[in-house]
Amino acid sequence: MSRTRWILFLCPLLLAAQNPFAGNATEADAGRGLFRILCRPCHGIAAQGGRGPDLTLGVYNNGNSDSDLFRVIFHGVPGTEMPSYGARIGDDNVWRMVTYIRSLTTRKETPPPGDPAAGEAFFWTKGGCGACHIVGRRGGAMGPDLTRIGRKRSLQHLRQSLTDPNADLTPGYYRITVTPRSGPKIAGTQRNLDNFTAELMTPDGKVHFFDREAVASIERDYVSMMPAYRNLNPQDANNLLLYLLSLRGENQ
Ligand code: HEC
Ligand code: HEC
Repeated sequence: MSRTRWILFLCPLLLAAQNPFAGNATEADAGRGLFRILCRPCHGIAAQGGRGPDLTLGVYNNGNSDSDLFRVIFHGVPGTEMPSYGARIGDDNVWRMVTYIRSLTTRKETPPPGDPAAGEAFFWTKGGCGACHIVGRRGGAMGPDLTRIGRKRSLQHLRQSLTDPNADLTPGYYRITVTPRSGPKIAGTQRNLDNFTAELMTPDGKVHFFDREAVASIERDYVSMMPAYRNLNPQDANNLLLYLLSLRGENQ
């Protein structure tokens, strides 16, 4: 590790022990302003979650102390969509956002009544979800891997994913449609797309590779390949949501 990287690595460890703004309403307010600019796209305007988890619950996967929150915001969560902000905005601004998050009163969307085991059964049978989604070692790969989805997303986002898949597409899973010079069009989720080639996966799990020169057109549109599940009966929907929330990357 270079010297600067060591310093970057050590600074937050040394400083992270105590929140200098703990309980300070003015600093929390400044934190809210920053939050609305930087974090809203994933955590929602009031931090109740969206593509990123709900931050108003007071319990966090990555640790519950102020210094845990500091660490997550400063360094991000490697291997997830949670970016690191420390180098860009500095320690004080990270603490301001920690103070803001702490100041939030708990307004949790209570999980619906239901049975996650029944949701699991529905997922693999009647729901047909396993055709496109992997959980653990099972399932198809055209859609995103859901092994840790309950850890990453809020209940509200999961509900919306089912009923309105186009509302907030998972990056990297856009639809690509290729029109060959002869023969029918073929559509699938994007695997790779550059100036010369396109690679996509069709619902049957097959990967197709195309040379731009050899086809009439390749189009990418911001549409989900997932069918909308608008007509699930409420019990099936609740069971399914509870199952998705239970997927946290453990025991799957
Ligand atoms: C591109 C989307 C995205 C943006 C932008 C984003 N986050 Fe996150 N954030 C996530 C995801 C996804 C996770 C869950 C990571 C995981 O799986 O542990 C997360 C996790 C967190 C956690 C830990 C939650 C827990 O339960 O441990 C905190 C705190 C957090 N984010 C705060 C912020 C703050 C503050 C900002 C803005 C400065 C921000 N995030 C911006 C996507 C995002
Ligand atoms: C024909 C394939 C297909 C089927 C069947 C399918 N999905 Fe999807 N799903 C996708 C694709 C592709 C995406 C990514 C694009 C998007 O965000 O909608 C996705 C996205 C999702 C997401 C959002 C993931 C994220 O990263 O936020 C969830 C949750 C989800 N699906 C759950 C389900 C459940 C539950 C079922 C069964 C009731 C199901 N899907 C059935 C293809 C499918």
